[in-house]
Amino acid sequence: MTSIHATSDNLSTLTADALILGVTEDGAISPHGQLDDDTLAGLNELASKLDACGKVGSTTVVPGVGLSIKRVVLVGLGDGSTTDLRLAAGSAARECGKDPASVVIAIEADDEGIAAMTAGALLGAYRFVDYKSDAEFDEDETDEDSGTSWLVAGASESALERGRVVAGAVAGTRDLVNTPPLDLFPGSFAEIAEGYAQAMGVEATVFDVQQLAEQGFGGILGVGMGSSRLPRLVRLEWKPEGAKQTVALVGKGITFDSGGLSLKPPKSMETMKTDMAGAAAVMHTVLGAARANLQIGVVGWLCLAENMPSGTAQRPSDVIRIYGGKTVEVLNTDAEGRLVLADGLVRAIEENPDVVLDIATLTGAQGVALGTRTSGVMGVDEIRDEVVAAANAVAEPMWPMPLPSHLLKQLDSKVADLQNIAGPAGGMLSAGVFLQQFVGDAKWAHLDIARPAYNEEAPFGFTPAGGTGAGVRTLLHFLEVRANA
Ligand code: BES
Ligand code: MN
Ligand code: ZN
Repeated sequence: MTSIHATSDNLSTLTADALILGVTEDGAISPHGQLDDDTLAGLNELASKLDACGKVGSTTVVPGVGLSIKRVVLVGLGDGSTTDLRLAAGSAARECGKDPASVVIAIEADDEGIAAMTAGALLGAYRFVDYKSDAEFDEDETDEDSGTSWLVAGASESALERGRVVAGAVAGTRDLVNTPPLDLFPGSFAEIAEGYAQAMGVEATVFDVQQLAEQGFGGILGVGMGSSRLPRLVRLEWKPEGAKQTVALVGKGITFDSGGLSLKPPKSMETMKTDMAGAAAVMHTVLGAARANLQIGVVGWLCLAENMPSGTAQRPSDVIRIYGGKTVEVLNTDAEGRLVLADGLVRAIEENPDVVLDIATLTGAQGVALGTRTSGVMGVDEIRDEVVAAANAVAEPMWPMPLPSHLLKQLDSKVADLQNIAGPAGGMLSAGVFLQQFVGDAKWAHLDIARPAYNEEAPFGFTPAGGTGAGVRTLLHFLEVRANA
């Protein structure tokens, strides 16, 4: 079981596998806590020989000479900002050796910084080993739980707890994204959601395929009907007594996106287990809000379906009816996310939330426009900017994007109210304009996390390869700001 606690012990007498110390911009080590002068001088000598520097996240590993510690990880603190401390802790956590039993972080910071370092360290240490047969992990352990016992010098319990909540939500999202679609499908996802919800005092309602049909959720049904594993809609509600407002969160939960009959080429399919990242982010944000006891109502909607080609799959040119009545001509079955989200948005807005946000791995065009790390945010100006501000505050790269009204013409269908694809230019934006047709005058924003949800490159900072948990920290912060307003 991973644990993270405070310590005020003398570093010279502590026993641990690794000690993480900060290097400031002048190249000097600045330990937080007592460390005897000779040891510090020795470490500084090693640091300067090895050119340890203050560049954020640069790491130098040296032996713990004169200490009861195997290795000392020297990490650049950059400008010492909360953002840099989070990144530094993440980079350092990845240099602590394989499965360290104990790690001490001795970097001075205020509560903000401690919370950020806590989250950064736990997330940097994240590993997904559920499918490695030689992994010596306990079945019940989540991957927040590498089994390391962490100590943070001079930390307050409240700062540690804030870090734990954030790390738990992000790591839980990563786990779901990384889980192969053989094991994660709409039914199993819904069961996982129900289980967690019950444990956290969150109310869960699962709509099965019969209820979806009776109530007219044509988007989720249309996308899900090609799979033998039937779709679900899950509603999660965190409802504290003191809540003065409610935020609805709607997540795209395509547990595998083959493209359907508009089949994707094999290469593009390899990462399509990640297409439920929005729903996973929504679920863990609701659970995180409950764990942090945020005084704000949160209703999460998980739009779960597997997009498969088969004899029962929807066909290009089919017309489906979205919840609430609008019809959509499905010209490309690979533009499926907007169909399930349309159902979810209309249903969410029916309850009159103060704000509704949706989050989705919606378009390849997001990556073309903004690259692999920066998510696009669209919607009502005021809410879009509020989301971007929340993202900036927690250093998640997100960028405001427009919803040009002229793109709506491209969504005109010859037979239905709308069609599900537009022209080739501005694909992220036309997907946003499509969703906009289902939100009326709700205070809405849409987050396209297509590429940022999954890191296909090398780990960096506290971000591993594979599922990243993109959006979770922003959504949690968005809720926290509103809860405390
Ligand atoms: N799930 C994909 C979007 C995606 C692409 C996510 C790459 C992550 C990485 C989505 O369902 C999709 O297939 N979108 C199409 C839309 C097109 C048919 C209008 C796309 O982006 O090509
Ligand atoms: Mn698709
Ligand atoms: Zn998709």
